[in-house]
Amino acid sequence: MACNACILAISFLTLPFFIALAADQSPIQDFCVADTGSTVLLNGLTCKDPKHVVADDFSFGGLHLAANTSNALGCHVTPVTPSEMPGLNTLGISIIRIDYAPRGINPLHTHPRASEILIVWEGSLEVGFITSYPENRHIGKVLQKGDVFVFPIGLVHYQRNPGPTNAVAIAALSSQNPGVIMVANAVFGSTPNISSDILEKSFQINKNVIGYLQTKF
Ligand SMILES: *[C@@H]1O[C@H](CO)[C@@H](O)[C@H](O)[C@H]1NC(C)=O
Ligand SMILES: *[C@@H]1O[C@H](CO)[C@@H](O)[C@H](O)[C@H]1NC(C)=O
Repeated sequence: MACNACILAISFLTLPFFIALAADQSPIQDFCVADTGSTVLLNGLTCKDPKHVVADDFSFGGLHLAANTSNALGCHVTPVTPSEMPGLNTLGISIIRIDYAPRGINPLHTHPRASEILIVWEGSLEVGFITSYPENRHIGKVLQKGDVFVFPIGLVHYQRNPGPTNAVAIAALSSQNPGVIMVANAVFGSTPNISSDILEKSFQINKNVIGYLQTKF
């Protein structure tokens, strides 16, 4: 009992430390503009010679442009990461524009390396995330133009445009490389696929349903 309490106390004390480690590391120089031509592999991207850095390395144009949302989901994400804006390298942040057709959705997904703070730029959005097991609490609401919402790091979340008009959101993420795990694609569309025995028991549904879902992703 005493030992359990002790382990529990230690886990809580060390938790913020581990959470801090989950975000990108702090830079140890003013900037490290990505050298997009480099083939060196490391945790991030190699730096361009600071003497050759220009203002355009720290800038990106075009987030005012609407994207094409004619796809099955009715949604398109335009990312601005170090690939689009080399000056973001090592700074631990990135930004995206999300376009939604009427009834379009950004389906259930998580970012393993970032929290996401989103502002509705046009239209309205129904948003939500689900807390960890075993609570699985669904926290969501409908946002109007100008409203801001935050999706905590690692949690499964979604956005949906309920309105009859297009919607647009701008979201900032606390990593230069947040990563995206699409729940349906990861579970039913992996390569090679997950055995249907595993999926059948995991989801407590019939093999035929699993087979059908696997054809969809
Ligand atoms: C949008 O994408 C669809 C499907 O790829 C394509 O058929 C359509 O021409 C595109 N529309 C525009 C305006 O580019
Ligand atoms: C899943 O993979 C197995 C082989 O690993 C294959 O026989 C089966 O057809 C695949 N199922 C789907 C739905 O792709």
